[in-house]
Amino acid sequence: MVKKTLIAASTLSLCALTLSACGGGDSAAGSGGNGGSDGTITMGFAQVGAESGWRTANTDSIKQSAEDAGVELQFSDAQQKQENQISAIRTYIQQKVDVIAFSPVVETGWDAVLQEAKAAGIPVILTDRAVDVQDDSLYVTFLGSDFVEEGQKAGQWLVDNAAEADADGDGDVNVVELQGTTGAAPAIDRKEGFEEVIADDDTISISQSQTGDFTRDGGKQVMEAFLQNEPEGIDVVYAHNDDMGLGAIEAIEAAGLTPGEDIKIITVDAVKDGMQALADGKINFIVECNPLLGPQLMELAEKVVAGEEVESRVVTEETTFTQEQAAEALPDRQY
Ligand code: AHR
Repeated sequence: MVKKTLIAASTLSLCALTLSACGGGDSAAGSGGNGGSDGTITMGFAQVGAESGWRTANTDSIKQSAEDAGVELQFSDAQQKQENQISAIRTYIQQKVDVIAFSPVVETGWDAVLQEAKAAGIPVILTDRAVDVQDDSLYVTFLGSDFVEEGQKAGQWLVDNAAEADADGDGDVNVVELQGTTGAAPAIDRKEGFEEVIADDDTISISQSQTGDFTRDGGKQVMEAFLQNEPEGIDVVYAHNDDMGLGAIEAIEAAGLTPGEDIKIITVDAVKDGMQALADGKINFIVECNPLLGPQLMELAEKVVAGEEVESRVVTEETTFTQEQAAEALPDRQY
């Protein structure tokens, strides 16, 4: 799969790609790869939506960084629909922007539109999420987290705390999983990383797993259904993001149970609301996913448009938080 190839590759010489991608004077490539006549770069950014606190922080970071860098930003919100993102990208191609950046809603189905961008000589930067395409020259670089590693960190915390997580003491740790958007890279990879690590412990198993679409409401509704299916016996919720975990907390409390005690909760993101719930003891562990990708994205865009070589994969640095660490970090948390 191309995504795996991409991750394995350390550096890719982009000179040839950038020349063809930026057009080198080809009128189809907008300004010829060097920005407008005054050097201003125009970026078309196709965002996933506004489904979570993470996404809002990510959008703010991109808009602010574009302003700081003097990049003219064309921004669109796809409302979590791939067809909206594809049509936004097509609009950016027609507008002959200097560079297109996007965070793909799902992994597959991008080959045709990315071919169109390439044919128009417009370089594409992936941010946050990967795509699964046949030809990895369809984009220049991918900036974002290692989602498999995030899932592994979540699984490792559970393996290390399995005895404590077995609230009913029956010797089995029964996990329910709130998955992100079906087909999205973070949903696929966080599941994979988590399952890989818990496989080492026979006492841990996942009894129910469904998508909550990365939203608070989705997490609440799916958790209500999980609780109805298994009124007793759920030991752990593994939510692929904070928002779904926060929705699950509402469902658990409405069922008369105590989140963080009767049912342990592990989430991913570490946005302010999630960190507050962690510090309050309602969540037990959060794996960080950093949304502040704007400054690095603008730096990459400037280099790509100038025809400079960039890394084919830029991985975001991230940490994890326990309840004590969340209480300490909260006063300085930016998002
Ligand atoms: O792609 C990043 C994920 O998307 C975040 O973890 C989640 O909150 C968001 O919706």
